[in-house]
Amino acid sequence: MTDRLEKARACEAEATRRAGTDDRPLFHLTPPSGWLNDPNGFSYYQGRYHLFFQYYPYDTAWNDMHWGHAVSSDLLTWTYLPAALAPDEPYDADGCFSGSALTLPGEEHFLMYTGVVREKVEGRERYRQRQCLAVGDGLNYRKYAGNPVLSEKDLPSDADPYECRDPFLFRGNDGAYRCLLANADKAGRGRALLYKTTDPFDWSEKEEFQKDRGRGRILTADRSEPPLMWECPSLVRIGQDHVFLTGVMDLLPADHPAYRRRHTLYRIGHYDEEKETFRVISEGLLDQGIDFYAPQVLTGPDGRVILTGWLQAGETTQTYRLPKAEWVGQLALPRELFIRDGQLCQRPVRETEKKQHDPIVFCSRTLDNERVSLDGIRGRVMDLSLTIRPGAGCETFCLFLAEDRDRHTDLVYDVKAGQLILDRSASGIDPSGLSQSRAVLRRKAEGEDRSLDLRLILDRYSLEVFADGGRVVMSALIYTELSAEGLSFLARGRAEFDLIKYDLDGPKTV
Ligand code: FRU
Repeated sequence: MTDRLEKARACEAEATRRAGTDDRPLFHLTPPSGWLNDPNGFSYYQGRYHLFFQYYPYDTAWNDMHWGHAVSSDLLTWTYLPAALAPDEPYDADGCFSGSALTLPGEEHFLMYTGVVREKVEGRERYRQRQCLAVGDGLNYRKYAGNPVLSEKDLPSDADPYECRDPFLFRGNDGAYRCLLANADKAGRGRALLYKTTDPFDWSEKEEFQKDRGRGRILTADRSEPPLMWECPSLVRIGQDHVFLTGVMDLLPADHPAYRRRHTLYRIGHYDEEKETFRVISEGLLDQGIDFYAPQVLTGPDGRVILTGWLQAGETTQTYRLPKAEWVGQLALPRELFIRDGQLCQRPVRETEKKQHDPIVFCSRTLDNERVSLDGIRGRVMDLSLTIRPGAGCETFCLFLAEDRDRHTDLVYDVKAGQLILDRSASGIDPSGLSQSRAVLRRKAEGEDRSLDLRLILDRYSLEVFADGGRVVMSALIYTELSAEGLSFLARGRAEFDLIKYDLDGPKTV
């Protein structure tokens, strides 16, 4: 083992002992200590789910990236394993960036990641990015002697070698291995490159896939928008369709003029593996809340397509965090992806239901221009489902979560505008960063039907909202002190609602 890996493992062994005793999320993976950003290498290997993560164990700030490692049998309760990768080779001396995992036919766990090295280019510090491999047994990983396996010489001539990262591995029906890579051309336009090989250690055959396909074409208002780098692309089959996911930096969605920032884009379409083309049918934002980026998907042993991501807007890592914790960063609750009526939908993994207990139910509760709290409906860990039926003339229906005398995080159904708004500007943490987001809801065919179903998962420091059967998803961190555990409901106008609330039970992440 190299010194850098040994040092990281020693540091986290200490932190892991303390991690079970502090106020962490129960089900959302956090680093034992230090910094976490993207999920990596999400895979099912030898009977357990493996989740790696971008990790710097020594400080709560982004730095030379390692790969942290955890395993779970239910996607909700995670056990730390020792760090898998440290930046300890000449080709990855300044970081092991994001990547993915597969199982090889010989049962080895196979990781592909981006090795980075800092260089001064025209007076500016940049990271040279090359793709590397490591092979392991689910606990210890050996970097491949032939690393890097994809470098500048393998890129198209117009590619920027400093923007070339986040390999996503998958296998086609033809058995060939494929790798999608986020890249920008020299003009800075984001795209994904596709590489294909029959030998996963040799990536010399290569092709381009979905090159600069509609950069911001639908989601940006103006074609003259600055070029947009992509990050963490992936491609997965769901039923008869394929879904392509990618992080897009600095995106300005047409219907959200205020939200120029990193977003995660999905495209539903058909991937033709013989022609290596992807025909886009529809697209949208994967999560319209404040905090979701860097998606990772996994096709589970039972065929479910499961998604997680970094539950933090990259723009707010300094301003929106717990003031004193020795860890920063958490991953999204794993979600099942499915397609209904041509739309991509999400729901919390069904294992969540096994954690539910002590249900409290309210049926046909009416509110008439009033704000109420309900017996037993409070807390910072819960699984809450609601169906709201606004009456004629009802303007808004609001939930105030993580509430005390001075603080609250709001989820507002703006009935008139047909929008769902998430607003944490009163959550008590520096509101200078992003504090609000909004999603446009579908108009139902019946016209007058304004009813809306919501499912909310609260896990101490986060809120994930699944609305309209999972068609709209909005996630946000809530770093309000845990003593703020009130929840109240307000209707402007008259509205009726049904509600069921469960507590969620589970050991802490250890
Ligand atoms: C996305 C990202 C990736 C990169 C990693 C570095 O958040 O920028 O593109 O591999 O984080 O930590």
